[in-house]
Amino acid sequence: MGRSSAAAASSLLIVFAFIVSKGLCSPLAGKEAWNYVEVRDGAHMFWWLYYADSQSGGYKDLPLVMWLQGGPGGSGSGFGNFEEIGPLDRDLKLRKTSWVQAASVLFVDNPVGTGFSYTDRPDRYATDVATVASDMLVLLQRFFKERPEFQSIPFYIFSESYGGKMAAAISLELTKAVAKGKVKCNFAGVALGDSWISPLDSVMTWGPYLYTTSLLDDYGLADVSSAADAVKKAVEKQQFEKATELWSVTESVVEQNTNGVNFYNILTQDPDDSVTALAGEDYISLQARRHIRPLHRQSLSQLMNGPIRKKLGIIPQNVTWGGQAEQVFSNMAGDFMRPVVDIVDQLLSAGVNVTVYNGQLDLIVDTMGQELWVKRLKWEGLPGFNQLRWTALDDPAAPGVTGAFYKTYKNFAFYWILKAGHMIPSDQGPMALQMLKMITQQD
Ligand SMILES: *[C@@H]1O[C@H](CO)[C@@H](O)[C@H](O)[C@H]1NC(C)=O
Ligand SMILES: *[C@@H]1O[C@H](CO)[C@@H](O)[C@H](O)[C@H]1NC(C)=O
Repeated sequence: MGRSSAAAASSLLIVFAFIVSKGLCSPLAGKEAWNYVEVRDGAHMFWWLYYADSQSGGYKDLPLVMWLQGGPGGSGSGFGNFEEIGPLDRDLKLRKTSWVQAASVLFVDNPVGTGFSYTDRPDRYATDVATVASDMLVLLQRFFKERPEFQSIPFYIFSESYGGKMAAAISLELTKAVAKGKVKCNFAGVALGDSWISPLDSVMTWGPYLYTTSLLDDYGLADVSSAADAVKKAVEKQQFEKATELWSVTESVVEQNTNGVNFYNILTQDPDDSVTALAGEDYISLQARRHIRPLHRQSLSQLMNGPIRKKLGIIPQNVTWGGQAEQVFSNMAGDFMRPVVDIVDQLLSAGVNVTVYNGQLDLIVDTMGQELWVKRLKWEGLPGFNQLRWTALDDPAAPGVTGAFYKTYKNFAFYWILKAGHMIPSDQGPMALQMLKMITQQD
């Protein structure tokens, strides 16, 4: 590098450091856009798009990925963006494993009430995945209409946790809408990360999983199994709200018997995160403390309700990022324990590319539970999939060390991600980025 270009490069770095330190949060070259869509009367959904910013091509040569967070009530524009895959981390430092280097990334705060999304009236929250999907279709229809340059770009939906349940339902509705010409986009596939597709299979495998990883003794295994059996009975009777309540009880039994294992990564335990039921507390508020609050830590809330809200400039004054999250969660309580395995089956038979990826250290959606519902798929390709052996993948950050296994047959793929919990991109960023490239046909 010549003297002058070295000097130019270092002054560029200074400009960049200046921008970041001022909290403007824009990677120098990266183009961004964001807005609200009123998806139903009084129901406002927020989205935030980062155009792909890659040395290997312009955004028109790279896919578009929509990221859906779990909860329900967790915010993609906040948690997914700053804690997992966005261009900057929570300290506004560049993320080396940002997905924006391989795709344009669209964060949508859904269901309505999540993140910066909001409702004007308490009866506007979604109470089932059908509403979640129809709301998203309104948003996508508008998004692709206003940005025709994205209509032909391969569009993928990636998700985490409850986001996967929503992603499955949205993908099916989107497939139908594209076929009818109602949404113009090049839908290329859905990826379900640590996803709540079959809640009962997750709950039923907690005991065996924790037992084999030295986190339950024989008494604990018996206690967890009997709590899980009660969930099973409620689900079998289609008593889904009761099942949600018993799910909460089962989590308390797990906590008591494991000395407070972390549901999101069994090998990391933070005593500050441990949540025990308060006297007289209802189960909804307990579950919100367990599963919504970790997605809204103080440091992230301060960022989103401070510099980010200022930068965005369109957030109504009385809307707080995360302010309606608990209502989002409680309104979905009757939906929470319902499985969507049949929707995944419909996607597969419609020819949609479906990927399941799961973290080895995740408890809440453990891999054992995922294997169970996958083996029950009615998809005609299942016997072929089952006959294959998996393939090992090196961890890109540690060549020679296994980072994952994967297997793909026809339009279905499964990735077993090692040393990762529930939030795979946070735990294994380089591996997650490589998987993104493989799923989107760049590797
Ligand atoms: C914000 O204020 C407007 C106008 O007073 C009101 O209609 C709306 O319901 C409020 N929104 C929220 C989320 O509180
Ligand atoms: C879907 O998966 C098949 C099989 O892996 C692959 O050949 C095809 O290119 C994929 N389609 C897209 C759009 O990624």
